[in-house]
Amino acid sequence: METLSLAPFQGITDVVYRNIFKKHFSGIDKYYTPFFTGIQKDNSKSLRGEEISPDFNDVKTVVPQILSNTAEEIVRFANQCKSMGYWEFNLNMGCPFPRVANKTRGCGLMADPNRTIKMLNDVFEQIDGIKFSIKCRLGYYNDEEIYAFVDTFNTLPFSEIIIHPRIGKQMYTGEASVEKFTALIPLINKPLVYNGDVFDVKKYDFVLMRCREAIHRNSSEPIMTKSEIMLGRGLLTNPFLAEQIKKIDNQQDKKSRLHNFVVDLYVERLRHAGGSPKIIGSMKELWKYMMNIFDDPQNVWRKVKKVNHLDDYETSVEEIFNDYNLIV
Ligand SMILES: Cc1cc2nc3c(=O)[nH]c(=O)nc-3n(C[C@H](O)[C@H](O)[C@H](O)COP(=O)(O)O)c2cc1C
Repeated sequence: METLSLAPFQGITDVVYRNIFKKHFSGIDKYYTPFFTGIQKDNSKSLRGEEISPDFNDVKTVVPQILSNTAEEIVRFANQCKSMGYWEFNLNMGCPFPRVANKTRGCGLMADPNRTIKMLNDVFEQIDGIKFSIKCRLGYYNDEEIYAFVDTFNTLPFSEIIIHPRIGKQMYTGEASVEKFTALIPLINKPLVYNGDVFDVKKYDFVLMRCREAIHRNSSEPIMTKSEIMLGRGLLTNPFLAEQIKKIDNQQDKKSRLHNFVVDLYVERLRHAGGSPKIIGSMKELWKYMMNIFDDPQNVWRKVKKVNHLDDYETSVEEIFNDYNLIV
């Protein structure tokens, strides 16, 4: 059975989303946290909240992510994750936003291979008893930058390398290149994870087929041995996607399942925020994606876009579920 993971989304897939998602849907094997930053000291304050506490996270299926450009901070993060019981952590080498990348963080790390490779070596020299994976793009300025890292990916003991095959400068425009991802399969001897633009089962099957073809074409070992795909906006849009991919039959009515999920997420977010209407913002972020599985996305979006009060939000959601149908 394929391993499916949920991509991290800052501001959307926080601990509340992950736990409520898991309560309502199945099919996801692994969850990555949105990135943590500012781990300036041991027992850092940003690592004391619910977002990472083992009391609220299943340490076996959650992988904490860090955005950093120093080995010292990454090692400190790794040690704290390990002490909380996590078995793997992840470094963000993909964030494309200029204010991040221009400081040689996120995808910016890919444009400075010498410095980044030294940093990765320094991390591996100092960590022990916890697996280390990275999530990257093909490069920041161009799609050849990743080739400067291939030797490092092969020599250092990364647990997996997640690749979103776009470049940083593209942000989310254009298409993720399945071909450029599969071209890397024979070159890298670590488990590779594909991430990008998987919005339905058809696209998932296509990516998988292309990966399998690339594996069979090349007999060099070891290669991507099992198919691992990370779902992002596709799953935010259609929370049934992992179940559909894995053909997990759930006879229950999809509309009422989605309705229950949306209400549960809202109630839990509200509880976390002490009743503050600010949480409407994060619900809207999710609706920007979810609207697309309704038969009239623009009108669904219109209903939530304008609301600022909790009562209005609740009324809009009820209207959406009364007036529109799902197309998945
Ligand atoms: C609003 C937003 C927030 C994101 N936050 C993170 C993050 O914290 N860490 C990360 O590695 N990627 C982050 N990403 C990138 C996604 O995890 C994912 O790699 C990207 O959406 C491509 O996959 P998809 O086409 O399946 O959505 C974010 C993307 C968006 C749009």
